[in-house]
Amino acid sequence: MPPMTRSRSAAGEVATDLMAEYYAQRASAGLIISEGTQISQQGQGYAWTPGIYTEAQAQGWQKVTRAVHEKGGKIFAQLWHVGRISHVSLQKDGQSPVAPSPIVAEGVKVFVDLEGKGSERGTGSMIQHSPPRELAGLEIKQIVHEYAHAAQNAIKAGFDGIELHGANGYLIEQFIDSGTNHRRDEYGGSLENRLRFLKEVVTAVSEAIGKERVGIRQAPLTTLMGAVDEDPETTYLAAARLLNELGIAYIHIAEADWEDAPIMSVSFKEAYREAFKGTLIYSGKYTRAKAEEALQKGWADLIGFGRPFIANPDLPYRLKHNLPLNEPIRERFFGGGSQGYTDYPTIQS
Ligand SMILES: Cc1cc2nc3c(=O)[nH]c(=O)nc-3n(C[C@H](O)[C@H](O)[C@H](O)COP(=O)(O)O)c2cc1C
Repeated sequence: MPPMTRSRSAAGEVATDLMAEYYAQRASAGLIISEGTQISQQGQGYAWTPGIYTEAQAQGWQKVTRAVHEKGGKIFAQLWHVGRISHVSLQKDGQSPVAPSPIVAEGVKVFVDLEGKGSERGTGSMIQHSPPRELAGLEIKQIVHEYAHAAQNAIKAGFDGIELHGANGYLIEQFIDSGTNHRRDEYGGSLENRLRFLKEVVTAVSEAIGKERVGIRQAPLTTLMGAVDEDPETTYLAAARLLNELGIAYIHIAEADWEDAPIMSVSFKEAYREAFKGTLIYSGKYTRAKAEEALQKGWADLIGFGRPFIANPDLPYRLKHNLPLNEPIRERFFGGGSQGYTDYPTIQS
């Protein structure tokens, strides 16, 4: 089950009993990756997403990991810093969001709650992200440290490991992609420099919790959130070779999942195999048949099913027995309570 933001945390961005129930219902997945969970307030870009930087947040997540483990499941936490994709209303003292370079992604919207702050939650709305300011070198070091702290908190909270959110146009990808990183210091310019933040974060979390508990999500061809690289095959294969040297457990590739999205070629997928010897996971519009093909052709070791898992808590059982699937209700993806969250029926109910 790949990471899916559902925006249902409680005040203080703390995971709830309802979230524990939701994840436990899906414990028959071979591996659950939690929704993106921010490593700091600065790393938050959407209303009501859970954090993993305070003691209360770690305790909230403990309810989730316990419930999943009791049902025999495994769960990793997806560690998230959104970088520029945020809004002043979510930031401390209304400050600007941060980014490698002060570039706005025009038309990119974030989900904010301008009516209710704290325990009173409003209805939320989608608005243009706020203009970011450029990170200073020392601030970058501080963020690397926050990743390591969040990883430690994740292990304390009972997660089996962590997945760095290095995909979909958020902070790590903003450093990697040439279109979002115009820095002239050691974090920008050459490919080696654009991969430096990735290297420092992966090294820091590996030292904190052990590299065998670390995975990363990448989205080589995505243009989501306005993050574009001029030569993604060269860039992301270099990243994969670096991650191979660092020896982490897996790379989880988010394939583009919207209409007319660029498709990853077979040769690109084969090159990933060459570059990275650990586990390769792919997600994005997979069906049972497409998943079987990817496994048989040897491109992938594991396949993630996202939206099908939202609507089918017993998805592995249904796929195994070729049973029909419930359809997800999009209007209930973000925010709200149990409706469209924990009330999807299993085949036996
Ligand atoms: C409601 C929703 C929330 C998502 N949130 C995240 C997220 O927090 N982190 C992430 O890396 N991907 C996120 N994704 C992308 C999914 O992990 C997955 O890659 C995508 O849904 C494609 O897989 P699918 O076609 O099987 O749904 C989200 C997708 C959906 C539908």
